[in-house]
Amino acid sequence: MSIELKKALYNISALADLGQEITSEDNFTVKIQSVLHVIMGTFVVNRGAILWYEKTKDEITFIAKRGFEDASPACWETGQIMSLEKNEPRAVSGDSVLAGAGVAILIPLWVRDEFIGAVVLGDKFSAEAYSPEDLELLKVIAHQTAITINNHALFMGLSEKLEENRKLYEEMRRIYHDTLQAFAAAIDAKDVYTKNHSHRVARYSVAIARELGWNEHDVEGIYVAGFLHDVGKLVISNELLNKRKPFTSDELHEMKRHSLLSYKIISNIRFPWKDVENIIRHHHERLDGNGYPDALTREDLSDGVKILTLADSFDAMTTERAYREKMDIRTALVELRSCLDTQFDNKIMLAFCKVLEKEIKGELPEPNILPHLDRNFELSHITALLEGLIQELSQ
Ligand SMILES: [Fe+2]
Repeated sequence: MSIELKKALYNISALADLGQEITSEDNFTVKIQSVLHVIMGTFVVNRGAILWYEKTKDEITFIAKRGFEDASPACWETGQIMSLEKNEPRAVSGDSVLAGAGVAILIPLWVRDEFIGAVVLGDKFSAEAYSPEDLELLKVIAHQTAITINNHALFMGLSEKLEENRKLYEEMRRIYHDTLQAFAAAIDAKDVYTKNHSHRVARYSVAIARELGWNEHDVEGIYVAGFLHDVGKLVISNELLNKRKPFTSDELHEMKRHSLLSYKIISNIRFPWKDVENIIRHHHERLDGNGYPDALTREDLSDGVKILTLADSFDAMTTERAYREKMDIRTALVELRSCLDTQFDNKIMLAFCKVLEKEIKGELPEPNILPHLDRNFELSHITALLEGLIQELSQ
């Protein structure tokens, strides 16, 4: 075998080794150390290092080194290295700082117009000079190494950006939810009898939606709808909202405006969830068409509307109002059952009963209904009733 052929085979195997290291699944530090070992093994040198230029800090640091333990790249004249020919290996002259640190060969690493760092090598163990073929091979190796480092830098930059964006998004979400809470508090504050009503309706709606297997994005939508469904009440007078006597027909008409007013306010907001404004508009519709404001019937009502209607009514029943006492839980459940098919949907009622039963049995890590209920009731009474309802509605 001729010497040229031997050299060619040797070069190919060196590149194959390098390729294996570069494409390995190791983390970046391990990978770059392995790359250095392959380079040092290929040329049989006493010391070597791979340097990385961190653009944001304008700083050059070691990312792998062997035999340069005491060297500090800070004094290695980054500007000078950068000014050298891109990816061209060059012998270091005897009187330079780099030569003083033991560097024999220097290859500045570039990817397109970006300076990435450098590979530096010491003398060969054999004390032979680097041949032109060695320098050719080093050029190819340097290029591969530069790309590996650059990919890592890009990935790190992207990860940082992603993390930054994630934090921003979280912050926005927090502000958004705080705003919603403030809005709901403003609504509930107008009507002394409906304190925390919006909050409870939102939680009950979430419980039912999750029980129905909704995805978390849609669950968030129904949560927001629950929070804001009565926002139109901000426009209704306090006097009317807190009236203790029965409403006159004019007053009732005025009160009923609130769902349409809520819709009008809400439809000016572009929510990331579909249908929030319609769920709010229709939260007083009924399956039998006797609801308002559009007198829709069961086929026209979405599950979202049906959930909010039931959650809203259940909370209205179980809390004290200006014009009546509150019902106990058992009575409220019986009342809901009596309005099935006219006002409330069987499927939604079944989900509500199931989730309430699960919460009572402690089967849910984050209960949404139970914490808001008046606990002066006998749980065993409710569980028997719930069991009966679940059986009945499952048929
Ligand atoms: Fe309402």
